[in-house]
Amino acid sequence: MKGILLAGGAGTRLHPMTRAASKQMLPIYDKPMIYYPLSVLMLAGIREIMVISTPEDLPQFRRLLGSGEEIGVSFAYAEQPKPEGLAQAFHIGRDWIGGEACALGLGDNLVFGEHLSRLLRASAARQSGATVFAYQVRDPERYGVVTMDADGKPLAIVEKPSVPPSNWAVIGLYFYDRRVCDLAARVRPSARGEFEITDLNRMYLEMGELNVEKLGRGAAWLDAGTPDSLLQAATFVQTIQARQGMLVGCPEEVAFRMGWIDADRLGAHAQRLRNTELGRVLALLARGELE
Ligand code: DAU
Repeated sequence: MKGILLAGGAGTRLHPMTRAASKQMLPIYDKPMIYYPLSVLMLAGIREIMVISTPEDLPQFRRLLGSGEEIGVSFAYAEQPKPEGLAQAFHIGRDWIGGEACALGLGDNLVFGEHLSRLLRASAARQSGATVFAYQVRDPERYGVVTMDADGKPLAIVEKPSVPPSNWAVIGLYFYDRRVCDLAARVRPSARGEFEITDLNRMYLEMGELNVEKLGRGAAWLDAGTPDSLLQAATFVQTIQARQGMLVGCPEEVAFRMGWIDADRLGAHAQRLRNTELGRVLALLARGELE
């Protein structure tokens, strides 16, 4: 399975911070925002990843992430000239995807929780259909919203409903089978002029092939689209890391745990980051002094 990280958009809700910088490059505590969804795709076992961003911002992502070889993955890069919707990722990535299954992660979404890795790997392993994740929120009208029957089978999915039919928001992480590009090609622009990911998900739902995984109390989902949510996300990461001495959203650590880089390579990353707490923790991991 391949994966796309979508990191474009104008980030107007974060102006003036994003006037001259990409939103997905802003720090969430001690790492650039994009590290968090990148780590999630890697935890799902995905090693071929296309980063899509604006023509202005794409060079920054190349500079940050490079070829990916240092963390055992392979990055491709593509421009999205205008933010015309999340489903456009599959128009842009079509040739690169080459008829394979593909996941999509939004560059501003942070998801964290116990047993998440297992759930991610199971979703990536599904041969047919699509998988989305639902999370209960207080303000579902801001998101894609799914309604389910008593068994968790999805009944309907709508984008930013003014009267939400449930409080289950669909998070910005999606797993699709190999039909995704053909189906995405059939999505028509919505009233607001965007190729909506929710319309693509509805196609899978109507075929009876949309799986919804509920994320419960043990999981955290944050999107960092506003100053408040940016601060909340940073505080969350800081709290977990300070309390547990473990890292949240560190691609070097994930690469090591997945067995894609060895202890020597991890040690080299730790050395490069030696002036940071991140480097200290990576060094402990490389020496086998942290579980
Ligand atoms: O965060 C989850 C939500 O993401 C879902 O619940 C919604 O169903 C989905 O439509 C999306 O809603 P948002 O209102 O958060 O989408 P937004 O337009 O803010 O875009 C999400 C991120 O993707 C944002 O960081 C900018 C980037 N983006 C967005 C568009 C429309 C792009 O890179 N290209 C685009 O064309």
